Amino acid sequence: MDKIEKNQKNLSEPIFGSPQMREPAPSEYIPKYKTPAEIAYQIVKDETFPQTQPRLNLATFVTTYMDDYGTKLMNEAVGINYIDETEYPRVAVMCGRCINMVANMWNSPEEAEWKTGAVGIGSSEACMLGGVAAWLRWRERRKAQGKPYDKPNLVMSSAYQVVWEKFCQLWQIEMRTVPITRDHITLNIDEAISMCDENTICIVPIAGVTWTGLNDDIEALDKALDRYNEITGHDIPIHVDAASGGFILPFLFPKKKWDFRLKWVYSISTSGHKYGLVYPGLGWVVWKDKKYLPDQMSFSVNYLGASIAQVGLNFSRPAAQILAQYYNFLHLGFEGYKEIHSNSMTIAEYCHQQIGKMPCFRNYSQTLENPLFIWSLDPEYEKTAKWTLFDLQDKLMQSGWMVPAYTMPKDIEDMVVMRVVVRQGMSRDMANMLLEDIQNAVEELEKLAYPTPSRIEAQTKGKVYTH
Ligand SMILES: Cc1ncc(COP(=O)(O)O)c(C=O)c1O
Repeated sequence: MDKIEKNQKNLSEPIFGSPQMREPAPSEYIPKYKTPAEIAYQIVKDETFPQTQPRLNLATFVTTYMDDYGTKLMNEAVGINYIDETEYPRVAVMCGRCINMVANMWNSPEEAEWKTGAVGIGSSEACMLGGVAAWLRWRERRKAQGKPYDKPNLVMSSAYQVVWEKFCQLWQIEMRTVPITRDHITLNIDEAISMCDENTICIVPIAGVTWTGLNDDIEALDKALDRYNEITGHDIPIHVDAASGGFILPFLFPKKKWDFRLKWVYSISTSGHKYGLVYPGLGWVVWKDKKYLPDQMSFSVNYLGASIAQVGLNFSRPAAQILAQYYNFLHLGFEGYKEIHSNSMTIAEYCHQQIGKMPCFRNYSQTLENPLFIWSLDPEYEKTAKWTLFDLQDKLMQSGWMVPAYTMPKDIEDMVVMRVVVRQGMSRDMANMLLEDIQNAVEELEKLAYPTPSRIEAQTKGKVYTH
């Protein structure tokens, strides 16, 4: 075969007629030989082909729908590294504007032209930065008082997201958790206060608890903490983990005080990629004032026409999400965000109501504070059921839905629940399809002659939830 003929053969080779399609995809070593781009593309693309449709994934809080212009902006910025600020100074300016807007959305009292905050890859990075700042502030205070600073602790509810466990492990901070119980389904404030002492770096209430969708009562916590700090002379602040609630409360419950209007709230973190409506990964953390951000954490940059603090765990990170966040602020405005989140809330409330009406289920809470909710099997029904919510999860997957079932945290871990997170991209019509699929799945499960393995396991472990 001469060279031209060989080239012709390669040119005309159909993708699915190629030898690569007959071989397993490489998994251990970089392959020795090249693969034509269109074939490599197809292999990579097909690897994710059978996965759940992102918008049918009701497990995630993270954005799975953006409009065409937002998506186009992100695609066009895919090669931009945020940290190259001398090359892309306008991205840094846009980031500063986003921080300003987020801070003002949370009623920041800071008067500086550029508010004190940072961008992160998600809430996890943002929480870590808030936590580190609280720890360093506490340490400096202890040093100045000539007191030991080797036993820091942090107080929050047992319904924490795993990032706080990571934070405490990585920075060697004792984690004191207040159990959520069937009587106290959010942070028990009296108990949280009773766990504090001179070594407490901060209390972390959650707006939009991952496990339940509820909010800790941050206003009541602030009041209780104010009394406690006054009596003890301690200076324990609050960092609010508002991963989901940070972009819900300002739009749907603007009168509710949970943010910088409260005395002891010194920092707040959120995920731009959750109800900030940007594709992953994007997080924000804001401090009430520059004085709450320890100098050791900030690296001064001057590309904004003034010296501003730049803070982060990561160095390189994609810029596309920052552009998309700014685009969303510009395009949607306050009203647009409010409309989208109101719709999500209405649809979540509708699903919550309909699920609550099904005799086999029982909702965890009466009302919703964020567009997500959990429910469990009705305790009476569960006594004789042949199936569990894990079986329902599997059944729903057959119709493409990802609706997770899981056990609750410590102290109520025998309780199995199911969660639906409603986000932009879920219509009432889709909600009806989901409800119909749940109804059909339950009907099929009820026809079972024998208990499912998951039910047998729950029964043998004594984990059938009864009140
Ligand atoms: C309360 C809470 N905090 C922190 C996180 C971590 O967020 P991210 O995935 O943006 O890092 C989550 C994620 O679901 C969360 O719900």
